[in-house]
Amino acid sequence: MENRGPWAILRGLLLSLLLLLPPPPLPPTPHTHLPLVLGHILSNQVHKPAGSAEDPSAVRLSSSPGQEPLLVLTFDVTKLTKVSSSFELQTWDPEGVIFYGDANVEDDWFMLGLRAGRPEIQMHNPWAQLTVGAGPPLNDGRWHQVDLKIKGDSLLLDVDGEEVLRLSQISGSLHNKSQHIMRLAIGGLLFPLSILRLPLVPALDGCLRRSTWLDPQAQISASAHRSGRSCDTDLQPGTFFPPGTRAEFSLQDLPQPCAEPWAFSVVLELKPTRDSGHLLALGTPENPSWLSLRLRDQKVMLSSGLEPGLDLPLAWGLPLQLTLNLSSAVLSQGLEKKVLSLSPLGLEPMLNLWAQPQGRLFLGALPGEDSLASFCLAGLWAQGQKLDMDRALNRSYDLWSHSCPSSPGNGTDTSY
Ligand SMILES: *[C@@H]1O[C@H](CO)[C@@H](O)[C@H](O)[C@H]1NC(C)=O
Ligand SMILES: *[C@@H]1O[C@H](CO)[C@@H](O)[C@H](O)[C@H]1NC(C)=O
Ligand SMILES: *[C@@H]1O[C@H](CO)[C@@H](O)[C@H](O)[C@H]1NC(C)=O
Ligand SMILES: *[C@@H]1O[C@H](CO)[C@@H](O)[C@H](O)[C@H]1NC(C)=O
Repeated sequence: MENRGPWAILRGLLLSLLLLLPPPPLPPTPHTHLPLVLGHILSNQVHKPAGSAEDPSAVRLSSSPGQEPLLVLTFDVTKLTKVSSSFELQTWDPEGVIFYGDANVEDDWFMLGLRAGRPEIQMHNPWAQLTVGAGPPLNDGRWHQVDLKIKGDSLLLDVDGEEVLRLSQISGSLHNKSQHIMRLAIGGLLFPLSILRLPLVPALDGCLRRSTWLDPQAQISASAHRSGRSCDTDLQPGTFFPPGTRAEFSLQDLPQPCAEPWAFSVVLELKPTRDSGHLLALGTPENPSWLSLRLRDQKVMLSSGLEPGLDLPLAWGLPLQLTLNLSSAVLSQGLEKKVLSLSPLGLEPMLNLWAQPQGRLFLGALPGEDSLASFCLAGLWAQGQKLDMDRALNRSYDLWSHSCPSSPGNGTDTSY
């Protein structure tokens, strides 16, 4: 019974430790270095889009693949007196990592994330290896209170004050004290994605506030791995492209064109913007605009190669549809419709785009282009199927994958 202090039991679960709590953020301990950037994260003094109301108490999680966690905390397990974490989460993103914790990367780790909007826990320790989803969808843009705690050998997950999951017999007492440091990463993982039991896209475009992680008294260090971004009080669903950002999809990953007769369509739902710049293009990385749609003066311009293009005045609120067949590109919105004839010389290159792995659908700035346009896409469909930015081949780090500021493209929010 020797090492069975309260901390010993918890240690197996260290995982749970990862939970967050509310407002007074990390009190620095004597050993804690609080880098400037961390101070920024904690105080939320980060970039603010003009014309949008910022929530000063919230911090934004990662919204790009490959990014490091926002924050990494370490704890001395022997000093933990409290094994609960709590936080409020606001997101429109259905999938990603909220936090990860480990005492040992190989055999004692824990992850809380979202899949299809609902909380998901994955854990791997000597007592339990499991993946479980529970609770209501949280990706409705509202703030949700999440509490995670260890009680006895059980892990309890509460959402908005209701217990949604109780996992028992998932922790054991410790047999030795060799690992007494626990790491907790917020907004990311501390191991390769391939180690997860069930893969997910880790980037979570969401905001946290009023977080408390385990026991601040047992905290040894805190390090910010990148600067945070502000959170709007009123985030809208969609994808926000700040100036100069883009996303690219491989055409081979998208729903394929109809074969007989050949046809391909893309539908965009665009939020009002006064900016000018590229919206969408079909091409390859070397020759990105075989066909392009650009915003200019509240119009959308369609052009192909060097041929003269056409434009359509934008009516905000109506989906914009681009349909290609073997003789023309049709741009339509509501009852308005314009047809651009495609030169027969262009057909082979067009069909080639789908036949080669280099074929791309670009959104936002083209590669190498220095665009000042920012815009919000409320939705994007290819061949009638909605596209998720998490499935893009690549995208800019600054792109907001699943949210838009409440008033994007005011022409002034260039401060990203
Ligand atoms: C644009 O932003 C300014 C403040 O920066 C605000 O007063 C104005 O209402 C915004 N306009 C729109 C259309 O959102
Ligand atoms: C401590 O426990 C780990 C895993 O449970 C084990 O691999 C290690 O050998 C143990 N160390 C000691 C000193 O008993
Ligand atoms: C392509 O679409 C245009 C406009 O809808 C239509 O007039 C034309 O016949 C179509 N061409 C082919 C080859 O389907
Ligand atoms: C992804 O995009 C970034 C910046 O936009 C670029 O530096 C990087 O090379 C791209 N990666 C791939 C695999 O295309």
